Amino acid sequence: MYKVIIDCDPGHDDIMAIFCALANKEKIDILGYTTVCGNNLLDKVTDNLCNVLSFLNIEAMVAKGAHKPLFYDSEPQPIAHGESGLDGPVFTYSNLKPINLNANDFLYNTISKEEKVILFGLGPLTNIASFIQKHPDIISKIDKLIIMGGSIYKGNILEESEFNIYCDPHSAKIVFDSSLDIILAPLEVCDFCTLHHNIIEDFKDKSKLFQLTYEILEFYFRYSKRKGDIKSPVFDLAVPMYLLHPEIFEGKNAFVDIILDQDKRGKTIINYNEKGNTLVLDKCDNHLFEQYFLNDLNTLEKLL
Ligand code: RIB
Ligand code: CA
Repeated sequence: MYKVIIDCDPGHDDIMAIFCALANKEKIDILGYTTVCGNNLLDKVTDNLCNVLSFLNIEAMVAKGAHKPLFYDSEPQPIAHGESGLDGPVFTYSNLKPINLNANDFLYNTISKEEKVILFGLGPLTNIASFIQKHPDIISKIDKLIIMGGSIYKGNILEESEFNIYCDPHSAKIVFDSSLDIILAPLEVCDFCTLHHNIIEDFKDKSKLFQLTYEILEFYFRYSKRKGDIKSPVFDLAVPMYLLHPEIFEGKNAFVDIILDQDKRGKTIINYNEKGNTLVLDKCDNHLFEQYFLNDLNTLEKLL
């Protein structure tokens, strides 16, 4: 059983990643969630997570983390995720509140008690870097850190920078310079981690979970539809998919360096090297990726 803590900034694709993890409860035990300022401000992304989990009657530990990146100011991304950070569904009530412990203390308390923990990094790496700096004594208990972020050569916020790393490059540098065993899903592998826009056509009114997924993905797909695409990368979903189905991915080891300066802020420099601490993914079987996700939704629907 994988013991997992999900660090996230929900976010449409963060929620799809969470659905995938929740569906695989025989393999993944979610110990809790930590939230980070990224796609939107900390309060908004935390509310988004609590709203979704509460709506589905899922009990969870949610700990709030960083309000802003280490040095730069926060930069909400309404173009992709809307003003709320999770536009599409409208929630009227949530009975899930974050716990009275910040992300750093929650990570410390939880990881200390476990033999090994896997971390998912679905947003900027501010919480994880701060944990590494504050508790170097227990980072050996982190079996692996699976991150969505960075790129091999392209960008989605600057020409060669991806949003999560751009948002807080200083924290990213601390993380990649650490001794952690890292798996990185950069933009290039996410080109294979896609869902066709037509999959949601029969989701409407099917059940509470499918209706919610419809509302989330219908909004999320608009961004790619405006460009004329028939499918969208669901970035963060690559992270649990890799944990569950590593055989559908390909990648190579590397050391990863981060550019901190404003003009190329957040660019990831991938130095391929067998001894590198980061497995940089570059290919995924798109057909299986989509099939596994559809299976996960059907499984989760039965579990709820
Ligand atoms: O660049 C993609 C990342 O930024 C994902 O984590 C997504 O949630 C977005 O906010
Ligand atoms: Ca995210």
